[in-house]
Amino acid sequence: MLKVTMIGTGYVGLVSGTCFAEFGVDVTCVDKDATKIEDLKKGIIPIYEPGLDKLVQENTQKGRLHFTTDLKESVRGADVVFIAVGTPTRRGDGHADLSYVYGAAEEIADALEGYTVVTTKSTVPVGTGRKVESIIRHRNPEADFSMVSNPEFLREGSAIHDFMRPDRVVIGTESQQAADIMRQLYRPLYLLETPMVFTSLETSELIKYAANGFLATKIAFINELADICEKCGADVQDVATGMGLDGRIGKKFLHAGPGYGGSCFPKDTLALARTAAELEAPTSIIEAVVSSNQVRKENMASKVIKACKEDLKNKKIAVLGVTFKPNTDDMRDSPSLDIIPALQKAGADIHVFDPQGEKEGKELLPGVSWCTNAYDAISESDITVIITEWNEFRALDLERVKQLMKKPVVVDFRNIYLPDEMEKLGFYYVSVGRTPVNPDTKNRVLPFKRAG
Ligand code: UGA
Repeated sequence: MLKVTMIGTGYVGLVSGTCFAEFGVDVTCVDKDATKIEDLKKGIIPIYEPGLDKLVQENTQKGRLHFTTDLKESVRGADVVFIAVGTPTRRGDGHADLSYVYGAAEEIADALEGYTVVTTKSTVPVGTGRKVESIIRHRNPEADFSMVSNPEFLREGSAIHDFMRPDRVVIGTESQQAADIMRQLYRPLYLLETPMVFTSLETSELIKYAANGFLATKIAFINELADICEKCGADVQDVATGMGLDGRIGKKFLHAGPGYGGSCFPKDTLALARTAAELEAPTSIIEAVVSSNQVRKENMASKVIKACKEDLKNKKIAVLGVTFKPNTDDMRDSPSLDIIPALQKAGADIHVFDPQGEKEGKELLPGVSWCTNAYDAISESDITVIITEWNEFRALDLERVKQLMKKPVVVDFRNIYLPDEMEKLGFYYVSVGRTPVNPDTKNRVLPFKRAG
């Protein structure tokens, strides 16, 4: 049985380690945080990810998944050591902070015994694998190891599915021996005919940034299209469908919204732009995406302010959803962190419900009141604002919502309701890239009619 050591029990490390154990591999997850490791041993998961707690518990019970703070011991005797520590944006310059990666490389160097594959799983800029390799060689010239880059493409909220049924696996290495071991590790996926891309270290590292950069570009593009739709009376969802049906474009990641957030796109686009500039191959496209998204998040509050006829003083606003996307408790770079403070600044009293966001949100969003369910937040509100499309917000009892609100005004940043239906129910409904009805004249703001 292959033995794997996963260094770092953050999002990527914990999900990947647990899923490898589920494949039948013997996995040890290592972290410096002793409390976290003790919790994990008991099956207590530090993040919210559907299905992960069950998988951790089952694989721990079956003796395939272990947790420890002892890096040296776990690296000794491992066939594959993954580096899955954090690579946050470095303060000030937008570069990925690689100090944790390099720190792990030094510790691995001291512990290596026998042939070992050392793999970066964290998202790391081009050239990092090569640098990790040289750190290890320098510190332990006798070490018998090969360097691999194996980026992860999982999404928060559907991470287990993404790991078990990926579109592809990317493996960058120059060593045939390492490639064979990686192929063996991913054998269960190989049997499912998952495409495997074997390439060089640098190419593999760049594939990860290229994929995230391109997806972020798609989102920024459709968001700008949404703005155009609002000005000319077109419907951005129909635009997305119409263009997405072209197989060369694809319909995924064309949902207009308040701007992308999370732990990956904002950080990775910034890091890609910085790397490109440093390599003297600047990417004006990614730079434009970064600024387009930032400006969008900053401007989104104005939609709410307009819906309230510019007067938010002492207005009660119900906010549904603050996490950067549904099925996660992650608030990193969430559009809510721009929208809510701007509404507070304009004098609004904010009442929030999020199924998982309260724990992190309490610190990040001072001055808001936390509610126990959507209706509790909506009660007596002047306006309801949907920021995150949690499933439970998709099927609200709209009659009840209307009765509970002081005025039936809804701003939906995720387009989860249909304008015509909302208007029929008597709501003044504002969404993204779909022309609202003027509450006074009951006409659409623009002369154009919706298609279909
Ligand atoms: C993203 C990628 O989708 C994963 O493939 C990648 O592995 C991961 O980053 C990573 O690098 O670790 P994630 O950040 O979990 O995954 O979430 P996404 O589902 O990609 O959503 C990111 C942001 O884009 C969210 O704020 C979401 O609301 C927004 N989004 C997404 C849109 O506004 N419109 C869309 O059509 C899709």
